Amino acid sequence: MGASYQVRGNVAVITLDNPPVNGLGYDTRREFSAGVERALADAAVAAIVITGAGKAFSGGADIKEFGSPKAVGEPNLLSLIRQLEGATKPVVAAVHSVCMGGGLELALGCHYRVAAPGANVALPEVKIGLIPGAGGTQRLPRVLGVETALNMIVSGEAVKSELLAAIPGQKLFDRIFSEDLLDAACGFAGETAAVHAAGQPLPLVRELKATHPNADAYFQFARNMVKGMAKNFPAPARCVDAVEAAVKRKFDDGMAYERELFTALMFTPECKALRHAFFGERAASKIPDVPEDTPQRTIRKVAVIGAGTMGGGISMNFLNAGIPVVILEMKQEALDRGVATIRKNYDNQVRKGKLKQDKLDARLALLSTTLDYADIADADMVIEAVFEEMGVKEKVFKKLDEVMKPGAILASNTSTLDVNKIAAFTKRPQDVVGTHFFSPANVMKLLEVVRGAKTAKDVLATVMALAKKIRKTAVVSGVCDGFIGNRMIEQYSRQAGFLLEEGCTPAQVDRAVEKFGFAMGPFRMGDLAGNDIGWAIRKRRYLEKPHMRYSKTADLLCEMGRYGQKTGAGWYDYQAGKREAMPSPVVVAMIDKHRAELGITPRRISDDEIVHRLVYSLVNEGAKILEDGIASKASDIDMVYLTGYGFPLHRGGPMCYADQQGLFNVVQTMKRFAANPHDDASFWQPAPLLATLAAESRSFT
Ligand code: NAI
Repeated sequence: MGASYQVRGNVAVITLDNPPVNGLGYDTRREFSAGVERALADAAVAAIVITGAGKAFSGGADIKEFGSPKAVGEPNLLSLIRQLEGATKPVVAAVHSVCMGGGLELALGCHYRVAAPGANVALPEVKIGLIPGAGGTQRLPRVLGVETALNMIVSGEAVKSELLAAIPGQKLFDRIFSEDLLDAACGFAGETAAVHAAGQPLPLVRELKATHPNADAYFQFARNMVKGMAKNFPAPARCVDAVEAAVKRKFDDGMAYERELFTALMFTPECKALRHAFFGERAASKIPDVPEDTPQRTIRKVAVIGAGTMGGGISMNFLNAGIPVVILEMKQEALDRGVATIRKNYDNQVRKGKLKQDKLDARLALLSTTLDYADIADADMVIEAVFEEMGVKEKVFKKLDEVMKPGAILASNTSTLDVNKIAAFTKRPQDVVGTHFFSPANVMKLLEVVRGAKTAKDVLATVMALAKKIRKTAVVSGVCDGFIGNRMIEQYSRQAGFLLEEGCTPAQVDRAVEKFGFAMGPFRMGDLAGNDIGWAIRKRRYLEKPHMRYSKTADLLCEMGRYGQKTGAGWYDYQAGKREAMPSPVVVAMIDKHRAELGITPRRISDDEIVHRLVYSLVNEGAKILEDGIASKASDIDMVYLTGYGFPLHRGGPMCYADQQGLFNVVQTMKRFAANPHDDASFWQPAPLLATLAAESRSFT
């Protein structure tokens, strides 16, 4: 594995071969470099073609090596490119399928490039908080023009090879070949060899000029655009700086500047956060005791029980992925209502131009409904989304146990109930699993996969793979009250309540949290989700845990009938039909009165205190979740918060944020909070895991 070498006629073919996407890892780079040397030394070779085996030309850096010494071991990518540019025989890159990041930078070091149509070409480094670091920002503008190149570098998005080849005056691709790419590339390489045999110099991208007729104005415009789009991330603005250097500086100076920017970005918290999320997403799909080659069950048809808020959204995920769905309900009216909502959601997408009419028709054709369990018996998986009451779940699961074919996966979307108890209603607890979707289920990325005590490994493996198919970020959680996400949010909500009692207004708390980067503060979030939901949960939860102190303000709010947007009033006031949250004097008066009854004198609380009391309440509970084995790694917790709770991406999730602050500092701050007489001192008792890691100067991740 690495790179292979072959001679065809008078052309040497060097094939990158490092599955799955020919990442430019250490061994691959060494073998590639040796291949180039060998070709140059062989008098029978007149030209070189480089290409990639399998499904890619090259996806760029080998992510398995990220951060290891191998990643920078010589020959590094810059050295390889220098070797290619110095080659005395023409080198042709034959690009197909995927040509990204370092793969594209390598191709730009070749004398010529040819491509198959349909290849995805990109410099995606910005997505992990970086800029291209091996000349991409200097060479791409020289072949594609400044504007096209900058668009690609700032967005990181892939563009198809044939579209790029169609840009007038472009020099990225010398030819697009629809026939067998390697044959055509070898033919092309042979021709170039003949031309250069007469002594004509080999073309180098570095010798081209990157120009713009109105450079200063254009880069000013680009900077403004980027500032608006990427306010929490430094990398996009650095992309503009680097591309500007391609226009304004000599090539080698531009290269040095690119390296300087790249290195500085590498150490920013934003880049660390993005890389953490990038690897966290991949790591989440790996379950420590479920090997990757665990056999999976085949899922050809899915049944959903309940056509309410969640059932409808859940069904859409499968329809979107081309998997037939049958929805079962108790009454025809409920089915009609559910299907009408699904149709309305799709119609909206068509109206916004996000979905074509024929696609909508195809999706709806996969949907059927029934009132009869006999019609779902042959489904490979059934997801229950009925009322959140154990009695109702019991009836449904007993029925499913009776009717479903052997081997069918029986999933529950419960958000608070014990999945082990639900499994025990059946004689096949090994087939039962929790699939906790988030609302709106067709939009939210997060799926908590709740692993029961008896859930079979192949059930987990199947559900994780299925989650990928329906484009969810799946994170495995053990069974506990609230699973990972809601168990942590409970502490966050309690702390938000204490802040009100001590002197904050809901608007002040929300503003501080949103300034930190959360999509929404806790009170605006409550109004959106419905404050009555939390009310119902608290009634149950705090009956079971009477020692848990919490602020009664949220209960008082619900007693006023202020459930949130759906009742036109919650923590905030709302105008009919509008979502804009307006501070409510009535609510502020209610909080003031409650505070006075508690005998608390209000004090001014800083944004910094607000944010850290809320975020560290997540962190401390997160540490307990790790201790309890509910989550198997800290990055899983971060993925839950990034994809399901609007935690700011540039902070990397609560655990990553705590690591970046330093766990010693986190614990010190918590001790300070514990001394506050109006807070709950036991609340700020650091979780043993947190205390240990802090004492040993270690981190969660
Ligand atoms: P919903 O009240 O909107 O819908 C429930 C549907 O189930 C209703 O259409 C009802 O007719 C149907 N149903 C009730 N009993 C049934 C039975 N025995 N057989 C067939 N159909 C039956 O409720 P929602 O919000 O969709 O919640 C469903 C489940 O999803 C609950 O377990 C809830 O805790 C959970 N969940 C809800 C979230 C939310 O934000 N609404 C988020 C995550 C989970």
